[in-house]
Order: sequence, then structure tokens, then C-alpha cells
Amino acid sequence: MFPAQRPRRLRTSAAMRRMVAETTVRPSQLVLPMFVKEGATEPVPIATMPGVVQHSRDSLRKAAVEAVQAGVGGLMLFGVPEHKDAVGSGGVDPDGVLNVALRDLRSELGDETVLMSDLCLDEFTDHGHCGVLTPDGRVDNDATLEAYGRMAVAQAEAGAHVLGPSGMMDGQVGAIRDALEAEGHTDTGILAYAVKYASVFFGPFRDAVESSLEGDRRTYQQDPANLREAMREVRLDLDEGADMVMVKPAMLYLDVVRAVAETSDVPVAAYQISGEYAMISSAAAAGWCDRRTAILESLTSIRRAGADIVLTYWAAEAAAWLR
Ligand code: PBG
Repeated sequence: MFPAQRPRRLRTSAAMRRMVAETTVRPSQLVLPMFVKEGATEPVPIATMPGVVQHSRDSLRKAAVEAVQAGVGGLMLFGVPEHKDAVGSGGVDPDGVLNVALRDLRSELGDETVLMSDLCLDEFTDHGHCGVLTPDGRVDNDATLEAYGRMAVAQAEAGAHVLGPSGMMDGQVGAIRDALEAEGHTDTGILAYAVKYASVFFGPFRDAVESSLEGDRRTYQQDPANLREAMREVRLDLDEGADMVMVKPAMLYLDVVRAVAETSDVPVAAYQISGEYAMISSAAAAGWCDRRTAILESLTSIRRAGADIVLTYWAAEAAAWLR
């Protein structure tokens, strides 16, 4: 009798496939990144990310409540300031757009969701780099750490449950942890962007935050060629006090997600970034693939690679489908 083995038996019906599915995506595993723009009175569409907007304070609050009602596990907030300067003052200022929005959402939602904030200077600097610069224009690691420490305390005081340092400075997790401890913020978590590659696919995000970056971030973000280096970054961040680690981007780096998931004893997140969003969105808009199926397949793949948590601009929509 041939074939003796018939794997297709386990695929005969939707019910059978559902029963034997090895990977699931739950709404609580999805985190929604959101943008809030200082001075905006209504949501502003982002051309390169159709369907994603820069929120006003009011529309942010409303969309955040809706996302939480849809079941998302958390929110990750990014601020777009009206004025940028060389040292990114708006990020450290307790009355800066991001901190104001954190306060709004914490008072609206309390502990109903996990409120996270991007901790980086690039949205606030006029040169667009993730840190402050030396006189000759290089990113000054240790001066940046000092700013990150002050940002961390401001964000914790504004109500963030978890901080997401995304600047890829050496020692950033340790500097933030020390600053938090010194001010008594012992419950504030750190989701370390431990592994962040210098990816061309961050392009649409830079529109979203109106980045003025010229050049690239290759002196601080990682070379896409490197995996061993990623493991070192994870180890350092865990030693410095990270509560969770993230790999970013997600889909082109699923091998990295897998390797990190296999070696770390903390939750692992993966960020399905703006360029991944844009690629799937544009293919679907052109009629080249079914949008919903493509989104769910992409999220399943990231989970299957080993991510416990997925940051995705589709978090609220996908959560509603998956409930
Ligand atoms: C930096 C930051 C970036 C993203 C998240 N945090 C951009 C960058 O490093 O240039 C990218 C997110 C995305 O592309 O969706 N604060």
C-alpha cells in the first residue's frame, strides 16, 4: 500500500486544521504602535503607511480605547514634536508631546493595558539621529545615555508601564535602569530593542515621525549580515536589566527571532515594522494577495519563529479578527 503515510488526513477540514494547529496568535500577544503629533487637531494620514495616522491627543485617546477593547495586549507610543532641536529637548521635557500623551492614556486606561513608550531621541532631534552629536558630527554614546536616563524618568512619571529603548547605544539599558532605580521607579519595565538592524525598511516610519535624518544609522544599528552579534546584544541587555527583549525588523529576521527565543529566558518580542506593513499593504491594494490572509500569515510566521509578542500596525484590526 502506497503511500503508507498520508499527512493530508490532518488537513481535511477547517475543524481538523484548527485542532492540530501548532501556532496560534492571540490578541493579547499583539502590541499596537501609535503616533501622536503635537499640535494636531485631527488625525493626519501617513502617505507611506496607508491606514496609519499621526494622532491628535483626542484621536489618540479614542483609538487607544478602541484597540484595548479589541483585545490588544499593549500600546507602544511614539511622539512627533512640533519643534526639534540638536539635543532632542522635547523628549526629555515632561510637557513634551510623548509624555503628555502617556499621561492622557494612563489616566484614561489605568492598568487595563500595558502602556509602552519609545525611548529614543530621533523623533526629537533636528538632525534625526538617535542620540546627541559630538562637535564633529558623530553620535556621542555616553552623552546620549545621560539624556536617555532623564527621558526614562520622565516617561515613568508620565505613566508608562514599560519603556522601549530603541536607540542602540551601548549601555542604554543599564543607564535607564540606574536612572529609574535612583528615582524609585522600581516597577517600570524595560523592553530592550536588543537586536535592531540598520534596515532600509524603516523608511515609512521616518515619514511617520517626520524624520530629518540624512545618511543612515549604521554606526549604531546592526549590520543585517550578523547573527552572532545579535546574541551578544541580547546577553548584554539582559545583564543590564532588561525585562524583555525585541528583535526588529521581524519578517526578514525570523532566524534571529528563533535564535533569540531559544536562548533567552525572558519574553521575546518582534516588531513588524513600517516597511513590512507597507509591502503587504501595497501588494494587497494592487490585488496581488488577499489582505487579511496575508496579514494573518505574516503574524503566524513571526509567532512560529518564536516571538511571544508581536508589535504590528495591524494589532487592533487583527485582534478583532482573532477574538
Ligand atoms: C527609532 C525607531 C525607529 C523605529 C522604531 N523606533 C526608526 C529607526 O530606527 O530609524 C522603526 C519602526 C518602524 O519602521 O515601524 N526611535
